[in-house]
Amino acid sequence: MRTQVGIVGAGPAGLMLSHLLHLEGISSVILENRGRDYIESRIRAGLIEQWARDLLTETGVGARMQREGMFHNGVYFGFGGALHYIDFRALVGKGYGQQEVVKDLIDRRLADGGQILFEVTDVSVHDFAGSAPKIHFRHDGEKQELACDFIGGCDGFHGICRPSIPATALTVFDREYPFGWVGILSESPPPEGELIYAYHERGFALYTMRSPTLARLYLQCAPDEDIENWPDARIWQELQARIGGTRSLAQGAMLQKGITAMRSFVVEPMQHGRLFLAGDSAHIQPPTGAKGMNLALADVLVLSRAMAEFYRSGRGELLERYSATCLRRVWKAQRFSWWMTQLFHLDPTHNAFDRKRQLAELDYVTSSEAAGRSLAENYVGLPVEI
Ligand code: APR
Ligand code: PHB
Repeated sequence: MRTQVGIVGAGPAGLMLSHLLHLEGISSVILENRGRDYIESRIRAGLIEQWARDLLTETGVGARMQREGMFHNGVYFGFGGALHYIDFRALVGKGYGQQEVVKDLIDRRLADGGQILFEVTDVSVHDFAGSAPKIHFRHDGEKQELACDFIGGCDGFHGICRPSIPATALTVFDREYPFGWVGILSESPPPEGELIYAYHERGFALYTMRSPTLARLYLQCAPDEDIENWPDARIWQELQARIGGTRSLAQGAMLQKGITAMRSFVVEPMQHGRLFLAGDSAHIQPPTGAKGMNLALADVLVLSRAMAEFYRSGRGELLERYSATCLRRVWKAQRFSWWMTQLFHLDPTHNAFDRKRQLAELDYVTSSEAAGRSLAENYVGLPVEI
């Protein structure tokens, strides 16, 4: 098999890369080791930045998001027993599950004749230091080779692309947090139309929603927590205490429960020869800033433009600058995700001073116009510079 760009992974990064390349007239093949049903029902965070919403719409994969997604004009920060609204005014983001973006991209890729091979095994990447990279894999048990000009390493944090680069060529920047999140999906109406980020002496909680009847909720827990320790009744009790305050939160059937680890991680550079890392394979951050999918989309927008320039003019400058271009924005999103995380969580290394400092900062960002604007600018997404 031969294609121009071989892509490993059919998450938001791999699918959007393939879609954007197609629009530039560049062929690609996606190799995904999971089944289509699995990746279409995997529940992840679901907040789309404004520029990313526009990108999905302008490239023809945004119609269902525009119809079914929930607009957010701001967020609530809850602390000291009250809710404080931060208005994003003209800066608007959109709530739409990540798996929904994945479904829309898969539908569009297949409708455009795109090739996605699901349930491939034994994927390995070769010869990317030279000009003729190859991807080896098995499909339906048969050994195959995909020859290509470039490889898109879009296989997430646990993928094989990043570890295939010589370790001496990469620098890792890493931080683990002494807490995690219990995440649930519940058939219940949210108490407000906007997200609520809650600071509480029992720990952080987040109320977000996928539709007027489907809530996505998170509670700070221990990093190595066992979900068995979180029966439904305990979850509702904690949510009521941390977010509900004096109102009683509507309860509903819990459709899904899981634990999310909290980690900040960046690898530099995001490329080695003709292998380009994009999305979670190059960087992950705690979900407090809602940046995961947005960063993945920004990386592949930069990469697709660089590849288009290469095929159009033979010039490789944008490809050479890919990592540096992405990392400027990645680090700002890392900073923001870390900042939101340290602002809201109960940290075992903190003392009474730190808790007073957190409350003062929450008071500051919800009462100062300048601080609120800076928060809004980062939350709805910094511009993508190419
Ligand atoms: N071979 C083929 N496919 C693989 C391999 C492999 N060896 N390893 C992983 N994959 C696939 C995974 O099954 C997954 O579908 O790569 C895909 C990676 O997708 P994501 O993990 O969704 O990563 P990405 O596309 O970068 O999107 C980033 O995902 O983790 C969330 O919240 C995060 O929003 C962020 C988004
Ligand atoms: C979500 O909708 O799952 C979500 C929203 C905002 C976050 C994290 C997760 O900060």
